[in-house]
Amino acid sequence: MNSVRRAGIVGIGSALPEKVLNNEYFESIVDTSDEWIVTRTGIKERRVAVDGECASQLAARAAEQALNNAGISAEELDLIICATISGDMPFPATASIVQEKIGAKKAAAFDLSAGCSGFVYALTTANSFVCSGTYNKVLVVGVDLLSKVTDYTDRTTCILFGDGAGAVIVAPTDGSHGILSTVLGSDGAGAELLKIEAGGSRMPITVEAIETRQHCIKMAGSEVFKFAVRIMGDASLQALEKCGLTPEDVDIFIPHQANIRIIESAARRLNLPPEKIFVNVQKYGNTSAASIPIAMSEAMQEGRLKPGDVVVMVGFGAGLTWAASVVKWGISANNGNSV
Ligand code: UT7
Repeated sequence: MNSVRRAGIVGIGSALPEKVLNNEYFESIVDTSDEWIVTRTGIKERRVAVDGECASQLAARAAEQALNNAGISAEELDLIICATISGDMPFPATASIVQEKIGAKKAAAFDLSAGCSGFVYALTTANSFVCSGTYNKVLVVGVDLLSKVTDYTDRTTCILFGDGAGAVIVAPTDGSHGILSTVLGSDGAGAELLKIEAGGSRMPITVEAIETRQHCIKMAGSEVFKFAVRIMGDASLQALEKCGLTPEDVDIFIPHQANIRIIESAARRLNLPPEKIFVNVQKYGNTSAASIPIAMSEAMQEGRLKPGDVVVMVGFGAGLTWAASVVKWGISANNGNSV
């Protein structure tokens, strides 16, 4: 019989493309301004992949960093979960391609689609596998290259997104640190608010679909904004309550990096002071499923996320979905062989 045990994050890494697009670039391609983008979103620049750069490459780089930080080898992995909505191909799973790239010979592998909530969904799934005793070492990757599916003639979406990957290793812990609670949710009534319509079974790709840019992201921005403002606070409070903590116990809040106004309103709801909120949306834009692990990795590198800290992460996205988790942090940048 498998017994319930605690799982935690024992390694973390991230990877970003080199190419930077700043707001001035967008002034040159659509009717927008640096001032509008900064005041409405907080974004100043974002990283985008070049031709030929794909999800599995960034994912593998982030994964190798996470393995290094955990001090374990790829051969030890039992499972790879890749949270993505912009994988290398519709199928096979990007997780399987990552498996081959990093040499995780004995790992099972699958992708998970929950939009920008995908990383916390995948973390929750990994937590369940480890706590149940089914697996010991799970690689969770959040990776998205939304620049590849962005309509660069649509000013309401093209300024928002950037590319990147973040990865963690989830494994059993001695109980002094680990994943304390998770909350997942979905409201399919909002499915049409944020979508790529063409390329699935409902609307296969046709010349007409491409001409009308149905193969790119379409979003009802202000509806998603209102949902995000409500759900980020609600989900964080639920996750805290589930593990018997309150906002006063939080050392650092690492929300999905979509829009500074959404982040600030969630932080106000939790009554958190600015020094407890991690923000890097100004540098990377919205990297979808990658945003939370990239932010956690950076927070740890900067010494803002330390062993013993209580961290709340929360995301929202296509579905519409939401996901939050409270984690007692247990690692540092020089944990394994250093990141
Ligand atoms: O991770 C999940 C993915 N989703 C999101 O993160 C998006 C959540 N939504 C948002 O972040 C915000 O809704 C946006 C940043 C997308 C838009 O901000 P907003 O304050 O909700 O603006 P709005 O959509 O209400 O538009 C206000 C005005 C409109 O003009 P009119 O109709 O008032 O004349 C837009 O056409 O701003 C206009 N606008 C722009 N103007 C300059 C929209 N995009 C731009 C732009 N530059 N890039």
